Amino acid sequence: MCGIIGYTGPLEAPKILLEGLSGLEYRGYDSAGVALCMEDSHIHLIKKAGKVKNLKGHCRQQISGSSHSGIGHTRWATHGGVTDANAHPHRAGKVVLIHNGIIENYHELTEKFQLQDRLISQTDSEVAAQVLNELYSGDPLDAICSLIKLLDGSYSFCIMFEDQPGAIFAIRNVSPLVAASTSSGSMIASDLTALIPYTRQYFVVPEQHIVKLTPYKVHVYHLDETFTKDYPEIMTVNWNMDAAMKNGFPHFMLKEIHEQPDAMRNTILPRVNKGLPDFSDDGIPDSIFESCDQVQIIACGTAMYAGMVARAIMQPVLKIPITVSIASEFRYEEPLIDKKALVIIISQSGETIDTLAALRLAHQCGSKTLAVVNVKGSTIARESDYVLYTHAGPEIAVASTKAYSVQLAALYMISCRMALVRGKYTRDQACSFLSDLLDVIPAMETVIAQKDFIRNIASHMIHSTDVFFIGRGLDYAFSLEGALKLKEISYIHSEAYAAGELKHGTIALISDQVPVIAIATQEHVYAKTISNIREVKARGAYIVLLVKENAQVDDSLADIQLRIPNVDDHFTVFPIAAALQLIAYYTSVSKHLDVDQPRNLAKSVTVE
Ligand code: M6R
Repeated sequence: MCGIIGYTGPLEAPKILLEGLSGLEYRGYDSAGVALCMEDSHIHLIKKAGKVKNLKGHCRQQISGSSHSGIGHTRWATHGGVTDANAHPHRAGKVVLIHNGIIENYHELTEKFQLQDRLISQTDSEVAAQVLNELYSGDPLDAICSLIKLLDGSYSFCIMFEDQPGAIFAIRNVSPLVAASTSSGSMIASDLTALIPYTRQYFVVPEQHIVKLTPYKVHVYHLDETFTKDYPEIMTVNWNMDAAMKNGFPHFMLKEIHEQPDAMRNTILPRVNKGLPDFSDDGIPDSIFESCDQVQIIACGTAMYAGMVARAIMQPVLKIPITVSIASEFRYEEPLIDKKALVIIISQSGETIDTLAALRLAHQCGSKTLAVVNVKGSTIARESDYVLYTHAGPEIAVASTKAYSVQLAALYMISCRMALVRGKYTRDQACSFLSDLLDVIPAMETVIAQKDFIRNIASHMIHSTDVFFIGRGLDYAFSLEGALKLKEISYIHSEAYAAGELKHGTIALISDQVPVIAIATQEHVYAKTISNIREVKARGAYIVLLVKENAQVDDSLADIQLRIPNVDDHFTVFPIAAALQLIAYYTSVSKHLDVDQPRNLAKSVTVE
């Protein structure tokens, strides 16, 4: 969840590290810090609670002289509060390190090495620094290998030793790290956004390997301290820096909402062959769709809600059990899956630790795994049997928007291909399904073009402490994501309920202080949903109604209506998603909150 960057080479390190940290800040933004190897080999630490902007101010005041190597960190607090002392880097003797992940046995290590009186911070990371310093007697590889044998948990570290000027060491266990050797020096980071201003070629640091960065070379070692025979595959970034900039938009989230139609085209069109979904270029064989007797979808957060929509689409057509699990629960519920189950893993980042652990468990159970992932080369993508990449480009805002839409697009295509190969759809039905999927792109554009009207809807939310989202069937599945979006960036308590369930308790919470966002796009339950809306209206709720253009609605039903284009009922999620994202966005903007970096959150959840 933290951002990591390291640089050694001919250029000035502070500029590279601080710019890199600005790009990585979306990974964690409680505190930030840098460690710089100065010309006299002394390592200068500057670390502060707060945003990178704050750190930059301190760096301007404190740095004098040149530095050509250093490491930098943005923190998402796990152990210990948000303080300068708990910010990274941590120093212990000659060792200075930054850490992403959790050292689960830090308490035992503290006792074993009798560190209690030496620790300045409350972090597990400083314990690792102290232990490493105890183990260090001039041979970094030897000390790091000894440290690793003592640690439980997930981690990536970047380490400098005061008597090894110009060298940066790193080790990875689960938590992601990418590295590059460029004509302007060697670099390492927790993700690509920090590297792409300097290079498009990179490699993923293999787990349980140590890398040593020197100004013109990145060496990779096995844990037995020998050079690795198989240098990791060099990969090429398939997006440019523009994709990671705001490009005139006030926030990444608004930019990413606008990027959805293109992201949809990029995800769908390369997989259309003669009007049918075709995954042969992705190397995904039809046999995995033919042979399974159940589908288990596993993910977290927004990705899991995309899975809920997929289940509602797939199960009625495929007529096999489709289940959706929260990854962090799946791991501990002794799942009933085996080699006849197809496990679909969904993750934007491809690094979410619970989702990754669920994937590994699915493999242990013998299931075939298919990952729907956005980040190329991520751990989940590499470890799955098959991967269907979504092509959303980098998603920087913590609130997921375009990643959700393209996850849905990929899942709809999987559903269609499965129905075709299992004989549930004729070719004509599959072609028609795909054509309906493509029709949602202009429908999303139409909704996004109504953003000023949607901003007006949002103005009715800003003084509320609770907002409910209701719908039935697919509309309920979309509501879950709408509620998550609103709560995570506006801090308004928002929940989604199946509209028919309200009378079983939740309606007690409805009053004239509670806006209800009602979604009614499903013809077969339309009348029932309208009755449920009347029930909350009768209790004073302010009703925001989302319906199709052609819906017949009594004027007295809703306080405000948002009409979406008349796409087929199975596809209304796409324009509705854009509308719900914009409601959340403008609510957060109107409350003057930090839209892209909401409190307590981080983009990539790499700790359990
Ligand atoms: O990278 P992933 O798709 O695995 O991330 C899963 C969730 O952490 C993520 O969707 C989260 O819920 C978003 N902040 C929601 O906007």
